[in-house]
Amino acid sequence: MDNLHNQNNTLFIESLSIKEIGKAYGTPVYIYSQKEITDNFLRFQNAFSEYPNLICYSVKANSNLAIINLLSKLGSGFDIVSIGELERVIAAGGDPKLCVFSGVAKTHFEIEKSLEHEILCFNVESKSELERIEFVAKQKGVKAPISIRVNPDVDAKTHPYISTGMKKNKFGVDADEAISLYRYAKNSSFLEIVGIDCHIGSQITDDNPFVDALDKVLELVEELIQIGINLKHIDLGGGIGIQYDNESTIDIETYINKIKEKVGNIEVILEPGRSIVGNAGVLLTKVEYIKSNPEKSFAIVDAAMNDLLRPALYDAYHEILNVDTSKKESGDRYDIVGPVCETGDFIARDREISLEEGDLLAIMSVGAYGYSMTSNYNSRPRPPEVMVSENKHYLVRERETLDDLFNKEHIINE
Ligand code: LLP
Repeated sequence: MDNLHNQNNTLFIESLSIKEIGKAYGTPVYIYSQKEITDNFLRFQNAFSEYPNLICYSVKANSNLAIINLLSKLGSGFDIVSIGELERVIAAGGDPKLCVFSGVAKTHFEIEKSLEHEILCFNVESKSELERIEFVAKQKGVKAPISIRVNPDVDAKTHPYISTGMKKNKFGVDADEAISLYRYAKNSSFLEIVGIDCHIGSQITDDNPFVDALDKVLELVEELIQIGINLKHIDLGGGIGIQYDNESTIDIETYINKIKEKVGNIEVILEPGRSIVGNAGVLLTKVEYIKSNPEKSFAIVDAAMNDLLRPALYDAYHEILNVDTSKKESGDRYDIVGPVCETGDFIARDREISLEEGDLLAIMSVGAYGYSMTSNYNSRPRPPEVMVSENKHYLVRERETLDDLFNKEHIINE
């Protein structure tokens, strides 16, 4: 996080002491830097400069209304994957007309609602889906704007669970099928071809797979021109990796310059999620207990896999800092684990860190796919979310109450 610094032996986000936020809201708590989110978004916009573009923030990365609202004010469009995300965008003051609808299985209801809200386009995943969209549009007497999601068959070299652009993945259609779907759409009175789409995966740290995918998309664009189909936009999806540890990753400006060089004057849409919010968030947690045996030491913290699933699900690395920076390197190694009853409930394993019971730890780079993947597993209320702006803090989502855990459930009284 660029907006994290050390002052008087304690960590600050922007001009606020993390300890103060812990005191005000308790732990665990998600904390975001408004400046960092803003700066990350503007990097995309500034890199495109005058070149026609639309940045569609991928809502699934972090769908908090305050974040959607902030980005919408900066001119963002949105990449959505469910009617729930569309409703969030609208509730946050975002423009449905700037939404692209991705996702492999759009329901009849979702298509209907999206048409009513006149979204920018459906990124179509299959022939059956295209036919369903056409059917719903016909029922409503409108033309549905569509892009075909092409699977370019390139290896994004990322975690297999988040790689989407290879033949073996469930996403999109191959180039031949894409052409046949475009021919079908061209002849339909209820479909309007607006673009082409591809998304090859997430947390990609080298821009070569992106450039390979772009080349394949551009070949298709040429073929489409030959058959009289001219597109309004090319959507290259999201997927730009961030730095979690010391890894090198894609430079946004370099990548966008490569796009600008290759694509003519056609509008480019990007769907970044992680690269806008990932490094803008930390999860603050407290060390409840330290427990050691001759083999291992465990620091048991009050955040668990229900609060941050990434380590358990992908073995993902998140840097962990003691908020009290006066603690000197001790050489002690801990498994940092949560209270959930599973061995898979860990935040970090075998991590060298100096800590004591009662210390506050900042789990870094959790702004993306942190809160949005939380659950109530083990009947644990979800943590609150707090936005920091300079020296102010705003509660942007309340901590769930114990009542929230079961107030939609019913006992059968018979
Ligand atoms: N567009 C589409 C169609 C997507 O499927 C995704 C992410 C994005 C855009 C945004 O990608 P980003 O810029 O955030 O990489 N839960 C996983 C990540 C799953 C990504 C799913 N799709 C994680 O925690 O790493």
